[in-house]
Amino acid sequence: MRRYRLEPRDSITGELRVPGDKSISHRALMLGGIAEGTTEVSGFLASEDCLATLAALEALGVAIERPERERVIVHGAGLEGLQAAGDPLDMGNAGTAMRLFMGLLAGRRFDSTLIGDASLMRRPMERVAVPLRQMGARITTEEGRPPVRIQAGSVLRAIDYRLPVASAQVKSAILLAGLTASGETRVTEPAPTRDHTERMLTTFGVRVERRGATAALAGGQRLRAARIEVPADFSSAAFFLVAGCLAAGGGLTLKGVGINPTRTGLIEMLRGMGADIRVRAPSGASGEPAADIEVHASALRGIEVPRALVPLAIDEFPVFFIAAACAEGDTLVRGAEELRVKETDRLAAMAEGLGRLGVEHELLPDGLKIRGRGRFQGGIIDSHGDHRIAMAFAIASLRAEAPIEILDVANVATSFPGFLEIARGAGLAIEAA
Ligand code: S3P
Repeated sequence: MRRYRLEPRDSITGELRVPGDKSISHRALMLGGIAEGTTEVSGFLASEDCLATLAALEALGVAIERPERERVIVHGAGLEGLQAAGDPLDMGNAGTAMRLFMGLLAGRRFDSTLIGDASLMRRPMERVAVPLRQMGARITTEEGRPPVRIQAGSVLRAIDYRLPVASAQVKSAILLAGLTASGETRVTEPAPTRDHTERMLTTFGVRVERRGATAALAGGQRLRAARIEVPADFSSAAFFLVAGCLAAGGGLTLKGVGINPTRTGLIEMLRGMGADIRVRAPSGASGEPAADIEVHASALRGIEVPRALVPLAIDEFPVFFIAAACAEGDTLVRGAEELRVKETDRLAAMAEGLGRLGVEHELLPDGLKIRGRGRFQGGIIDSHGDHRIAMAFAIASLRAEAPIEILDVANVATSFPGFLEIARGAGLAIEAA
């Protein structure tokens, strides 16, 4: 599947459930892999990214069963139980997998090499390697990028580290390395980022303390196997949340979505634009809150996005920019330079695509200014192989004057298997070729 073709449609409706959360699925496998006992994961995201993590753990000697597509049983090897993998570990497109494995493998008695696809081989890894070296790990990158080589036999010691960028992946890698370090590892973040690692470590019986902006844990704590119910991924629901704002006259309901407050910045941003979003019946499983989210179409107004919300909506900007293009007035996003080092440079890729669809915009070093036009002209979009760019432009078809074609869409399978069918079921006229 290399491209999508979308005919214009102006209505979306119904009730749908998007697949499991990617961040939580990666972590459930990894923590299950180093726990003592058998961890059962339900609602697992069977996407290419998470399957790369699963295959890597198997290569590291962890026994894993998958009785159903979305149910995984991990027979934990214990904190010290991982074994050398024969070959380099291939993380595919998954930045989360690579960075978290760096932390997990830093203090082992064996060498590891981490590689990935063309996109991942271009992404910055020193942000993780630098603090891990301070802990005593011996790690090399190729001018800051993969392959990442981790040498055997380092004895790790705790550090007290202030993150230079707000990154949950870096925070998580340090905390995972801290599990095998001597002393108390502390990570302080410049702004709140997703806290799934801290929450899940707690579920596995590890004491993680939160002191203001600092997360701290003592090394040497054993993990006890757990039952993890993965909620639907807010970042996948986000495409339909925006779709609903644009075209759900009769309402659209998204079932069982993870609403961890470190993930839901998009709801606040859209509400600030005048969106009608209702969060219903919150419940919680395995330390992560979930709820049904109902959205109704409404007229959106442009806003200036508060900088504090940027890390809380970091993966949602591609589709947020689509909402902004449909709003009345200008929308300004600043302080979002991290978007330049995602699966692709998401500021540049979105600016290019919006231009193709006739949307006036200004590309800034750390953001984007968009002049809301209300509608899109048709056109051909290059997703640059980025799943979220591809899905974001599919949603634009709800306000398009002519067909939209999106190139290079195979990587949608890295985060959202079944996107095509779910989108079609809700009312998009989408075909793949
Ligand atoms: C993730 C953290 C974020 C996010 C990524 C998943 C995680 O990355 O963009 O999709 O699971 O920890 P950064 O930590 O680089 O911001």
